Amino acid sequence: MEPIYLDHAATTPVHPDVWEAMLPFYTANYGNPSSTHSFGRAARTALNRFRDGMARALGCLPSELVFTSGGTESNNMAIFGIMDGRQPGKKHVITTMIEHHAVLHPCEHLESLGFEVTYLPVGPSGLVQVNDVEAAIRPETALISMMYVNNEVGTIQPIEQVGRLARKHGIPFHVDAVQALGKLPLDLAQLPVDVMSLSAHKIYGPKGAGALYVSKHTRLLPHVFGGSQERKRRAGTENVAAIAGFARAVERILPLREESYKHASELRHLMIATLEKQLGSDAIVINGDQEQCVPHILNISFPGISTETLLMNLDLADVAAASGSACTSGSLEVSHVLRAMQLPENVTHSAVRFSFGMGNSREQIETAAHKVATIIQRLRTK
Ligand SMILES: Cc1ncc(COP(=O)(O)O)c(C=O)c1O
Repeated sequence: MEPIYLDHAATTPVHPDVWEAMLPFYTANYGNPSSTHSFGRAARTALNRFRDGMARALGCLPSELVFTSGGTESNNMAIFGIMDGRQPGKKHVITTMIEHHAVLHPCEHLESLGFEVTYLPVGPSGLVQVNDVEAAIRPETALISMMYVNNEVGTIQPIEQVGRLARKHGIPFHVDAVQALGKLPLDLAQLPVDVMSLSAHKIYGPKGAGALYVSKHTRLLPHVFGGSQERKRRAGTENVAAIAGFARAVERILPLREESYKHASELRHLMIATLEKQLGSDAIVINGDQEQCVPHILNISFPGISTETLLMNLDLADVAAASGSACTSGSLEVSHVLRAMQLPENVTHSAVRFSFGMGNSREQIETAAHKVATIIQRLRTK
């Protein structure tokens, strides 16, 4: 039997349509978009087309999109770019304790340079309180950075309310929307967001491709020098093939958003129901807010069984799941997200993330859930 992949929050397979859109830029159309001859012009025309299409789909201007190498670079560019362009005397950043490391580590670096960072706490379901954001705002606050959807537990943060608050105080607002793209409506014409990070490989696009939306009103200084690409905001020859794939992935995923949501909801309920039936509802703990969440990410604890033991056994049984963010899986460290949620130790030490994709079938979920339950029962009787 084929292994069952339940780790779509880590990455997704490249869709054949995406791959097909990328191929010509590795073969016939290999020009450098900065070259002035016909090969370069063809690549430039294509690049403009991809940027226009993505801007239309996201509700922004083409000139407000900067192509990057992915979510990590976009987050770094947003944080350092805004802080470098800050007004004099502003040296404070507000973020949350449950951000991806691609936000937390740049913030820690800022602290080492003498900036001040407030890491907002979350409640036991992983939600940030808007009141806490308001209370943290100071006259010297230069940036608020908050994720839209948490990659470990799937909770949806109150981005609109925080954005309105940021606008009221004139503070730039950055949103890491890497896990929200294709899952939640993202209309940049409506959302009160100034800067937004996106990544291609979570939506059936290629790895190493991303974008940063920078509203035309936002001052953001560059960090990569050496060329005038991307309106001098990010030097370096554009990865045209990857951008072609990203643009196609966005074009494909947005009309499928509701279908994908419904499919993931069904799989989520099936997984929970099957586990509860076999193990009893007392034997599992579902982490994260059950209302304010995307259905694609299901984080479950099996108290008494360690995360590593379960993941290892699942891998042997051909089920791929994760302990949280891909960067920390493999290490024994407890997830900073679950720790911030202040869950009991037997819950934080036994959490596993299952994340669903369009390619997962109901049969796969039933099989995976039975395998999980059988492993848990076997380990418990040991
Ligand atoms: C919320 C979030 N932000 C940022 C990233 C980093 O994105 P990339 O892998 O494209 O660098 C990820 C990837 O897991 C993520 O889940």
